[in-house]
Amino acid sequence: MKSHKLIKAREYEAEKDREIPAEERPLFHLSSRCGWMNDPNGFSVYDGIYHLFYQYYPYAPVWGPMHWGHAVSRDLVTWQYRPAALAPDTPADCDGCFSGSAVTLADGRHMLMYTGVMPEGNGSGRQLQVQCLAFGDGNEYEKHDGNPVLAATDLPEGLSCYDFRDPKLFRRADGTYGCVACGCTADRDARILLFRSDNGLDWHFESILAANHHRFGTIWECPDFFLLDGKAVLLCSPMDMQKTGKYSGGKGTLCLIGDYDRENCVLMNEQDQPVDEGIDFYATQTLLTPDGRRIMTAWMANWDNLQNNAEGLRWFGQMILPRELTVRNGRLCQQPVRELLAYRHDRHAYKDVPVSQKTELNGIRGRTMDVTLVIRPGDGGYRLFEIRLAEDDAFHTSFIYDRGRQEITADRSCSGAETAVLHRKSFRITEYSNELKLRLVLDRYSAELFVNDGEQTFTMTIGTDLGAEGISFRADGNAVMDIESFTLRKPA
Ligand code: FRU
Repeated sequence: MKSHKLIKAREYEAEKDREIPAEERPLFHLSSRCGWMNDPNGFSVYDGIYHLFYQYYPYAPVWGPMHWGHAVSRDLVTWQYRPAALAPDTPADCDGCFSGSAVTLADGRHMLMYTGVMPEGNGSGRQLQVQCLAFGDGNEYEKHDGNPVLAATDLPEGLSCYDFRDPKLFRRADGTYGCVACGCTADRDARILLFRSDNGLDWHFESILAANHHRFGTIWECPDFFLLDGKAVLLCSPMDMQKTGKYSGGKGTLCLIGDYDRENCVLMNEQDQPVDEGIDFYATQTLLTPDGRRIMTAWMANWDNLQNNAEGLRWFGQMILPRELTVRNGRLCQQPVRELLAYRHDRHAYKDVPVSQKTELNGIRGRTMDVTLVIRPGDGGYRLFEIRLAEDDAFHTSFIYDRGRQEITADRSCSGAETAVLHRKSFRITEYSNELKLRLVLDRYSAELFVNDGEQTFTMTIGTDLGAEGISFRADGNAVMDIESFTLRKPA
């Protein structure tokens, strides 16, 4: 039975969606059907297609009582909306259906596990976070009668029932199910909790997979755990991080790479790195494709910088372009999904282009672009190299490489933004060589930068009017670049 709340949300989103022309959205980044979007949820393959749900408040471009929006794709690049999947309409989730994930059950049903938010009910005014299930066929989802399936009594001693959320499901080789969720101690120190189930419905606590010990912020939201290239990888989004050399402070993302101790179910010997260096990036989630690739999506926004939406857009929130993950030399590396190659048109390639003064190249301009550059020092070398994009007489957004400091700075302070949120951010590159390789993916309201074959990435949104289409290059000194560029377009 569909609730009144879900029917209302579906009618509302269908009507609003009709009012928003495709040109007002990114070309290939999934955006909120209407209203507000945050974390990706239920990122999975079911019935031969990719499903991506999202934290959703359809009625206004602000966070509100959480629903789950829903979209599907055959190639992770072009998305189609399906009706909203969940509304906060049962006692266990009446204050919101928070983040969660999806898995296919042995009987073929698609199962969602999400965090239900409910009043504590003892006059405390506080909200409990519990884990709930819903079963579906890829279109309609029915909530489980036995919700919640994990609650305060399932937590190990000392863990908070107020910050217990974001379950990420996985299926083990032996057919049993696992799930990691975010937990924390009374003094807000993150614990990643591992649960197990034989049938997907009955769950019990297995271990504390990883503990923060106050190293990286407080609570680690949206955890994900998987094995990749012989290593164990934990991704999460810490809150309240202190600024250090490697991390920029506030809400960030964290990747811990280590070894999995199967006996005790703990992650050991971890190395850490930020997942993305950018301004607008949070809440990652991955899936495994049928051909064995680990693909990550994330919210292309960050709680600390919300006010950067372009004026007049009738949606808020988009996801990153899904990325293929690998572990190379102990580091997490990311590349745009290879499916994007089918969208490349109008190739323009130039070799050994000298760059000092402003340089523009025939055919290289636009707001839906895939551009790869290799930059080398020319005669006497160079100090700074700048790429400007979304440029016209009034506006531009830059990536500036400082060769001496081995640092890249992104700067969108001239992108037309009207709020003084963070517009400029720098990061040191990890691997220094004489050549720097950059790949830039532009999609109307965003820029994603991949450094040295995805060793590091930088993600940001830009609100610049779409008429600003220029792309230009400058160097302080003499640089030489090879460049290959494509316009990204959907098949007719
Ligand atoms: C992360 C988060 C999650 C929570 C959801 C609520 O962005 O705070 O921890 O489930 O958003 O919308």
